[in-house]
Amino acid sequence: MPTVLVTGGAGFIGANFILLARNKQWFNVANLDKLTYASNLENLAQLQNDLNYHFVRGDIGNLELVSYLLEQYQPNAIINFAAESHVDRSILSPQDFIQTNVLGTFQLLEASRFYWEKLSSQRQQKFRFLHVSTDEVYGSLNSKDPAFREETAYAPNSPYAASKAASDHFVRAYYHTYGLPTLTTNCSNNYGPRQFPEKLIPLTILNALDDKPLPIYGDGQNIRDWLYVIDHCEAIYLVLQQGKIGETYNIGGLNEQANLDVVEKICAILDELVPKSDFSYSSLITFVKDRPGHDRRYAIDCSKISRDLGWQPQENFDSGLFKTIQWYLNNSDWVKKVRSQAYENWLKQNYETRNN
Ligand code: NAD
Ligand code: TYD
Repeated sequence: MPTVLVTGGAGFIGANFILLARNKQWFNVANLDKLTYASNLENLAQLQNDLNYHFVRGDIGNLELVSYLLEQYQPNAIINFAAESHVDRSILSPQDFIQTNVLGTFQLLEASRFYWEKLSSQRQQKFRFLHVSTDEVYGSLNSKDPAFREETAYAPNSPYAASKAASDHFVRAYYHTYGLPTLTTNCSNNYGPRQFPEKLIPLTILNALDDKPLPIYGDGQNIRDWLYVIDHCEAIYLVLQQGKIGETYNIGGLNEQANLDVVEKICAILDELVPKSDFSYSSLITFVKDRPGHDRRYAIDCSKISRDLGWQPQENFDSGLFKTIQWYLNNSDWVKKVRSQAYENWLKQNYETRNN
């Protein structure tokens, strides 16, 4: 079975992807992860006896280490999930985003190029570098604007989006300049099991279970297109197998939701699963000071991947949210572990100054 080097596989999407890949026997996996605050090796605990899964702690920006791993594992593909991924953190400290998302991706591309150039021509043709990116690189839409297409001009607004846009440009340049067989996916907001509770959906679930305020930035009418994480993972696998090299694929959930509606849906499910006798969870909703430069709306036109590769999201939002909430309810040990002092400090830093 071929081996794939997955980076950032101890984070939310990477871990779900590796679990699926090993479950479905897609390929062997070597996972390179720096283990930042957003990672959690518990995510992959069920693979501890899997001889075809290997974990290495390290930085994608470490050229020597990555070159060594490529020699050792001889992968047929690299899938780059590793990134700093939270917009609010990028506003408070953009430096880490430049370091990992821009410089780290650049070093990973360099190591990949050196490795790829030495492969036999047969293996060179099969090799793929798949870069996992975001719809946020396209900027913000007004309510009547058409959804983002692959041709939409990049207009990143947050330091996070700018750093991902820069990395996408480097991936593109490595295809055009060196012929490295790259693929890029730009996906909308993911949700599902194992997401670090700094992002809207898991933060809302855990705060609600603690009877804490559910913070809504601004007027709550900012719109995101939500995709269940497993649908994203299936799309990535399809692009890896059948995507045309040098191309980009937009991936979305066909599921635009205003933030306030998302939070209200979560509250309604919690009212059903863990009812409180004296109040509804929605009474915890609290409007707070907006995020600076907050993008109003994201929407993805995923007709290309649908038409060319036959992909469609399988999960609907109500059932996906229900499953996600059940996962957090059933995994209290996981939740306990991620609620470190550092996490509490982050909540303090991000939310204390937002009280209207
Ligand atoms: P995450 O923050 O949950 O996980 C990121 C992982 O990368 C962590 O395990 C972290 O330790 C690792 N990492 C960070 N810096 C690293 C470095 N220098 N070297 C090696 N590993 C490093 O992120 P996620 O939500 O799983 O997102 C994964 C990828 O998907 C990111 O590239 C993100 O931009 C992209 N994406 C995310 C979403 C979303 O809604 N979460 C949507 C579209 C695209
Ligand atoms: P988030 O999960 O941080 O993802 P992104 O910023 O990458 O889209 O946020 C999703 C939306 O929810 C976004 O419009 C910001 C908003 N939001 C809140 O209203 N309150 C919160 O506490 C958080 C974390 C996000």
